Amino acid sequence: MELKIETASIRLLDTLCKIEEQCFDQEAFTKRQISYLLTDYNAIALVAKADNTVAGFIIAQIEIENNTLFGHIITINVASAYRRKGIATKMLQEIETILKQKSINEVHLEVREDNSDALKLYQKSGYQKIGRLEKYYGKAHGLHLKKNL
Ligand SMILES: CC(C)(COP(=O)(O)OP(=O)(O)OC[C@H]1O[C@@H](n2cnc3c(N)ncnc32)[C@H](O)[C@@H]1OP(=O)(O)O)[C@@H](O)C(=O)NCCC(=O)NCCS
Repeated sequence: MELKIETASIRLLDTLCKIEEQCFDQEAFTKRQISYLLTDYNAIALVAKADNTVAGFIIAQIEIENNTLFGHIITINVASAYRRKGIATKMLQEIETILKQKSINEVHLEVREDNSDALKLYQKSGYQKIGRLEKYYGKAHGLHLKKNL
């Protein structure tokens, strides 16, 4: 399988929305939200292509708190047929490299406490739990993770 990570273009909006819906169901970002993120000046959006087919994508926003810039991973997902092939790991590595090139030294994200697949991915990629987010996803709790780059 040839894997390429590229900048996500707004032209892929429909394809990315389908993957987002498949991955997150009721909690998926809407087309309007994804469209906004793909064109936001402060966002980095990457797409993974496996043998030229879109297999997943990742979007991070650059935010600021207490005078410190940090990356915030807003969404990461891989279509079910392409999972466990290292695609999410590779997308995380690529986005972290881009953030580092912008002199950003930390990345934050939120994940459902019961999303064990994603938690394993993040743990393996060096993210650490820094807080619990009560009822962050409706009735479900979330975890706040962070990685120093
Ligand atoms: C979570 C998700 C992005 C992982 O994508 P992926 O491309 O399959 O992940 P990778 O192949 O890079 O996996 C890296 C590691 O994470 C862990 N992992 C990922 N999926 C797993 C699974 N289904 N079961 C057990 N461990 C898993 C493993 O340790 C894996 O390494 P290994 O395959 O060498 O054992 C994907 O399952 C997905 O899109 N899920 C739905 C959306 C979602 O939950 N996104 C995260 C929201 S915070």
